[in-house]
Amino acid sequence: MKQVLSKILVTGGVVMGLAMSSSNFAMAQSAKPDVKVGEALYMNGDMSRGILACVACHGAEGNSMVPMYPNLAGMPYEYIVNQLKSFQAPANGNKSEMRKDAAGNPTLMDPIVAQMKAEDMQNLALYISKQKLTQPATAKLGADLDVVNRGREIWRAGIPDRNVPACASCHGATGQGMPSAFPRLSGQHPEYIESQLIAFADGHRPHGGNENMMGEVANRMNRADIKAVADYAAGIR
Ligand code: HEC
Ligand code: HEC
Repeated sequence: MKQVLSKILVTGGVVMGLAMSSSNFAMAQSAKPDVKVGEALYMNGDMSRGILACVACHGAEGNSMVPMYPNLAGMPYEYIVNQLKSFQAPANGNKSEMRKDAAGNPTLMDPIVAQMKAEDMQNLALYISKQKLTQPATAKLGADLDVVNRGREIWRAGIPDRNVPACASCHGATGQGMPSAFPRLSGQHPEYIESQLIAFADGHRPHGGNENMMGEVANRMNRADIKAVADYAAGIR
């Protein structure tokens, strides 16, 4: 496991590995995803299957006004498909593999995805990935220069004495994320970023089909560092 992080630090090999697994993913798809069908499901949901309208929480075109609901606009297609799947009980019935919230409880997403098919997830993800983040969230702790400096330091250089790699090495220098598996953090709600880092650190958010990169990053940070880097990431442009 430690190898994963050293690989990315040294050669970026993980990024290549992910890019290869994503082409397998594309081949496994059956029908071509349909952006219009995805948009209709995003806007209206499908009550016959318990699918609530996404727009009610995640906002118009994936721009969420509520800190606990993540912004989705423009997130990578495969990342979104993977996350939707991770809220669904796996075929083997092992619920410990499901994505939970920072306290280890089931999320609001679980009943919404319970009856979704793969094609629903693909249609939704295509629609979401094509939206623009027009209402980005911003940092909230900007007045505290010690916190800002610590956040920037971790973002750019990691925490070398604890083997925490730079966030920028995977999420991009400006936090825009990278296709296909690295989510954008720039403009995400800082409260949400912090909650997810805690979920990763405490083992409540298993990796979405990739190696457990974030678990190993987050469980090496203390809570003050998590708060600082979450705020910095939200505000970076
Ligand atoms: C009742 C509010 C609510 C509704 C409706 C809702 N969501 Fe969510 N969604 C949430 C919450 C809360 C989270 C964060 C869960 C956590 O704590 O991990 C979330 C997380 C997500 C994530 C993970 C984002 C990330 O950055 O990892 C995706 C993807 C998502 N929702 C898609 C959808 C889609 C698609 C729909 C419509 C079919 C939908 N949501 C409807 C509340 C909602
Ligand atoms: C080795 C690559 C790598 C590094 C370094 C890394 N991340 Fe990540 N990060 C990922 C991957 C891959 C995911 C998606 C995980 C999944 O699929 O569930 C992710 C997901 C996240 C998420 C969840 C976003 C969402 O929308 O739910 C947050 C928050 C996050 N990372 C923050 C950070 C921070 C802060 C740092 C620096 C301390 C960091 N990451 C360093 C690879 C990395």
